Amino acid sequence: MNRQELHGRKPLISGNWKMNLNHLEAIQAIQKLSYALNSRDYDHVDVSVHPTFTSLRSVQTVLEADKVPISLGAQNVHADSSGAFTGEVSASMLSKLRVSYVIVGHSERRELYGETNIDVNEKTKAVLAEGMTPIVCVGESIEQRHSGQAQQTVEQQLLRGLATFDSEVVAGLVIAYEPVWAIGTGISATANDAAEMCGHIRSLVAQNWSSSAAEAVRIQYGGSVNPSNAVDLLAQADIDGALVGGASLKHEEFVRIVNFRLYQP
Ligand code: PGA
Repeated sequence: MNRQELHGRKPLISGNWKMNLNHLEAIQAIQKLSYALNSRDYDHVDVSVHPTFTSLRSVQTVLEADKVPISLGAQNVHADSSGAFTGEVSASMLSKLRVSYVIVGHSERRELYGETNIDVNEKTKAVLAEGMTPIVCVGESIEQRHSGQAQQTVEQQLLRGLATFDSEVVAGLVIAYEPVWAIGTGISATANDAAEMCGHIRSLVAQNWSSSAAEAVRIQYGGSVNPSNAVDLLAQADIDGALVGGASLKHEEFVRIVNFRLYQP
């Protein structure tokens, strides 16, 4: 029995391209990826790519012209629907481009741009209002882990970020557990540590929303995922996918991560 039959949760592997690839490079990257994956892969795994705003339209055009079942994702969004917010992009603009997933509260947004749990809550609402799926990121810093505050930090981010959402809404979200110290450092959490926190997140969802929401919600792990550690990480019952930064820019590595099941013992 595969994991999907076991839990009914299809893994989601997301490539967060961050501020990399101009629209011409993005077209090449998505074409190469679409040639490398086939319908059997998509039966087992959902795949999303998250280009910069300037590349979204180009990538969308390739995906639709070639009917490629890779979902389009964005890296950020503004909480308001329109207005005098120079430099920002609204959820309705993203949904018009048929964006399916929007990353909310990535630790780089929290750390470098001061996003708070309240921002995360408002952005998540805006994404949901446009019928897209938020990928809500949570994760502790190295100091918080060392001082034994990791679970508490993640709990606060989760409860504040998802405050006021009902159980059905939470069931449909993607939550990405991304320990800050693992992002872009080459030091991934061990499969055991990642599984422990993802299990904790699932039990928080059960306690604060419902057991059916906990069973349905997809929880990704992110932070230095590569082809070597992906197999172990994705074998964990509570880990339903990966949010991949650096390795998503390396074609062969990303394809191997998407195909993790082929490498499972
Ligand atoms: P990384 O980034 O895979 O390069 O560590 C992950 C992320 O930021 O989502």
